[in-house]
Amino acid sequence: MIRQRSMLAALQVFQQELGHVFRVNLPGFNPVVLVGPEANRFVLVTQRDELRWRAEHDPITRLLRDGLLVIDGDWHDTLRSYMNAAFHRRMLAGYVEAMVCYTDQVSATWDASPRDMLAEIRRMTLLILVQTMFKVDFSPEMGRLWPAVLRLLAYISPGLWLLWRDVPRPGYARARQEVDQYLYRLIQARREALREGHDEPDDLLGVLLTTPEMSDDLIRDQMLTMLIAGHDTSTALLAWTLYLLGRHPAAMTQVQAEVETVLGSETPTLEHMAELRYLERVINESLRLYPPLHIGTRTAAIDLEFQGYCIPAGTRVLYSPYLTHRLSEYWPNPDQFDPERFTPEQTRPRPPYSFVPFGGGSRICIGAAFAQVEAKVILVRLLQQFELELIQPKVHLHMGVTLEPGPGVMMRMRRKADRK
Ligand code: HEM
Repeated sequence: MIRQRSMLAALQVFQQELGHVFRVNLPGFNPVVLVGPEANRFVLVTQRDELRWRAEHDPITRLLRDGLLVIDGDWHDTLRSYMNAAFHRRMLAGYVEAMVCYTDQVSATWDASPRDMLAEIRRMTLLILVQTMFKVDFSPEMGRLWPAVLRLLAYISPGLWLLWRDVPRPGYARARQEVDQYLYRLIQARREALREGHDEPDDLLGVLLTTPEMSDDLIRDQMLTMLIAGHDTSTALLAWTLYLLGRHPAAMTQVQAEVETVLGSETPTLEHMAELRYLERVINESLRLYPPLHIGTRTAAIDLEFQGYCIPAGTRVLYSPYLTHRLSEYWPNPDQFDPERFTPEQTRPRPPYSFVPFGGGSRICIGAAFAQVEAKVILVRLLQQFELELIQPKVHLHMGVTLEPGPGVMMRMRRKADRK
C-alpha cells in the first residue's frame, strides 16, 4: 500500500485539474510544469539548447561545480563524448563481475532478521559504482565516508532551500571536505600509477586522466557527479522493484522461474542478462510507476512558447517522468502494477517520449545501460540465493534526490539451503 503524502501527489492533482501545462505558485518558487510526450520532446529535444540545466544557486550546481549533469552547450557535448568510452557495451561485460562480487559481499552478512533493503542496496550500488568507474575498492572507506555521502545527498534534495536560498546547512561543509579529500587522493594516486605505466585507463577515472583538457578539479567534478547520479538512482530503482515483487507474489514467482531457467546457479554474465525478458518488463514497470528521477529541471534562456502558453526567459521549467508515466491516455489503469505493458505488442503503439525514466535526447542518462544491467545482476544474484519476504507493506513516496520508498523496504531474506 502506497501512502500519497508527497508534493508529487499535489502536482498530480494540479495536472489532473489544470492539464498538461500549469504553474506552481509558491513564494520564491513558481516553476512551469510541462507533462506528457509532447512536453518531454519539447524540453529534451526541440528546445534543448534554450532550456538550460545549470542554475547557479541550486545546491546541486554548487556541489557538482562543472560536472556533466549541470553544464550546458558545446562543452557539455564534448565532455560527454570523452566519458562515453567508459559506458560502452564492451566495458559493461567487465563491470558485471564487480556487480556480482559486491552483491555477494553485502549479502554475506545477512541473517534471517528483517532488514531495510533500501540501505542494503545503497551499500551495494555505492561499492559497485566506485569499483567500476574508479577501479577502487570502497569497502575500507564505507564506515568513514558513508555518513558524508548521505549528508551530500540531503544537501541537494528538495527542501527549504527552494524557498530560502541560504538556509543553514549544518554538517554539509565538513561532509563535502571529507568526500573531496578522498576523490583528490584517488586522482593523485591514479595519475602516478598511469604515469609510471603500472595501470591502464580502462575505467572512467582512467579515461578522464588521459584526456588532455582535464584538470584535477574538473575530474573531481565528474567523479562526484557519477557518485551522486550513479548510485542513488539505482538504489531507488532496486528498492522499488523489490517492494513491488514483495507485493505481487505472482510476478515474484514468474521472475524466480525465469532466473532458474536462464541461470540456475551459474554466475551471472552480460549474455544471461539479455535473456531475462520478464525481469526486464518488471524493471520497466517499476521505472514507470516510480521513476527515480521523477522531475527534471531547466531554466528558459529566452522567451518560449509551448502549445500556446508563453514561458518568459528566466522561468524555471520542470518536466516530469512521474506525471507522464501516470497519464491514463497512454497507460490504462496507470496506478496498477502490470509488467505486460512492456511486451513488444503493447509497447509499439505508445508515442515516443511517453516512457522517459532516463530522460531523452542528447542529455539522456549516460549510465542507462549500466543501470539496467546492474539492476538485473543484483536482483538475479539475490533471487538465486534468497527467498524474499516483504515485512512492512506500507511505504510512502519520499522525494529525496530520487523518489524513494519511505521509510525503507523492510524484508526478511532467507538464504536458500542449497545456495550457500
Ligand atoms: C535507475 C538508474 C538511473 C536512472 C533512473 C537515471 C535517470 C537519469 C535521468 C532521467 C537523467 C536525465 C536528467 C534530465 O534530463 O534532467 C540522467 C542523467 C544522467 N545520469 Fe542517470 N539515471 C540512472 C543511473 C545512472 C548511472 C548508473 C549513472 C552513472 C554511472 C548515471 C549518470 C548520469 C549522468 C552523468 C547524467 C547526466 C547526463 C548528461 O547531462 O549528459 N545515471 N539520469
